[in-house]
Amino acid sequence: MANRGSFSGKIGFILAAAGSAVGLGNIWRFPYLAGQNGGAAFLVIYLICIFTLCFPVMIGEIAIGRKAQSDAYGSYQKLGGGKWGYLGLFGILAGVFILSFYNVVAGWAFGYFLEISFGNLLDTQDFGAFFGTYINNVGIISVFSIGFMVLTALVVSQGVQKGIEAANKIMMPALYAILIGLIIYSLTLPNAIEGVKFYLVPNLSEINTQTLFDGLRQAFFSLSLGMGTLMTYGSYVDKKQNIVASASIISIADTSVAFLAGLMVFPMVAAIGAYDVQGPSLVFVVLTEVFHNMGPTTGKIVGGSFFLLLCFAALTSTISLLEVPVAYLVDQKKLPRKPVVWGVATLIFVVGIPSLLSQGKVEFFSHLTFYKDRDFLTFISDMCDLSLTIGGCMLCIFIRGKWKIANMNEELSIGNPGYMNSYLRKYVSFSIMWTCPILLGILSLLIIFDKFVGIEYIFG
Ligand code: PHE
Repeated sequence: MANRGSFSGKIGFILAAAGSAVGLGNIWRFPYLAGQNGGAAFLVIYLICIFTLCFPVMIGEIAIGRKAQSDAYGSYQKLGGGKWGYLGLFGILAGVFILSFYNVVAGWAFGYFLEISFGNLLDTQDFGAFFGTYINNVGIISVFSIGFMVLTALVVSQGVQKGIEAANKIMMPALYAILIGLIIYSLTLPNAIEGVKFYLVPNLSEINTQTLFDGLRQAFFSLSLGMGTLMTYGSYVDKKQNIVASASIISIADTSVAFLAGLMVFPMVAAIGAYDVQGPSLVFVVLTEVFHNMGPTTGKIVGGSFFLLLCFAALTSTISLLEVPVAYLVDQKKLPRKPVVWGVATLIFVVGIPSLLSQGKVEFFSHLTFYKDRDFLTFISDMCDLSLTIGGCMLCIFIRGKWKIANMNEELSIGNPGYMNSYLRKYVSFSIMWTCPILLGILSLLIIFDKFVGIEYIFG
């Protein structure tokens, strides 16, 4: 046990878990999902999902990891016995697939950072066309994706304290500093206030089933919940710490970064009136055009900082994603960390190749006939999101039916003596027994139906 590694203390764990949570999901995906779903209306749904469904699951997930002191498979197996370990394996597999496409998008961000800071990307005229061509340049994107994976592996191979914790201690403060700087700048742009209004004044008529599905899956994805990342990180936490307090800080940190990312992006969108640009290209196309308009020097500095921010956010998340399968192989198969890290990283890059080719390069992966003609990257990311909500639902069923709520509460009381008599205990216990499993189960089924058939057949 002694050589599993552990965080040095409270701050180390919180920074690493917040680093895992804050990622491309917050800065790249949250703003475009909000844009597609009526701005503030989406924010409202998102916050409700975080509070009612995600927060209790997060507490449960960390508690399982700390109690069992093992990887995702080992934790379920230790506390549940029987076939419960498979639930951990399901999460580990989901993590492998998430990292496979996540690393491709991280490769785009890494490429943009280098091309803006040291190349002449900002001299381009048509940024939409440029982005489309760029991400189909398989040679370049492979180099940057491999580069990103190598950075991730270098950190993870150093172990929990010297690698993961140390990297987060540098990158997380840097990330906040860049983000705040960019928001201040963004708010001085012409029309900024219109962008802020679009983002913050809720138009409740925009809320529909899609807003709800997108809000839910984004909340799970953004908090890195439901697949074992927080369980694995939780297993490196010592017994003195207050899990509930840590989970609160992690949730607030993640949510505030998503919120702030919107506050940075929408004034920029408003500056060029590009409200109609939707989807994954939002930050790569609209923001790049704004950087271009700032003139060569300012554009390079502000644009370079933005993509550096995106890279830091992505890296602290890819580190946590790689750690999940690595911890499994190190704990269960007793394999040495370094070779495992490089082996798994290579494998995941290979699994990501269809995503890399799916942006138009290879017709088959770009238009999946069984998936409403969408591309493979969208398909795999949708399936991973789904596995997170299913994973969260199963986690509650596991705690309720197998490990037992009383045992969870006992674990949560360690380092938090007042917990047993608190309202929070009642809220979390009730959520894990009822609200979370029921709602997550129903919503997951509806999302499956929507993805493959179309929810309009039910709700018109
Ligand atoms: N939370 C990360 C993000 O928002 C993504 C992630 C998902 C990381 C699941 C780990 C596990 O970008």
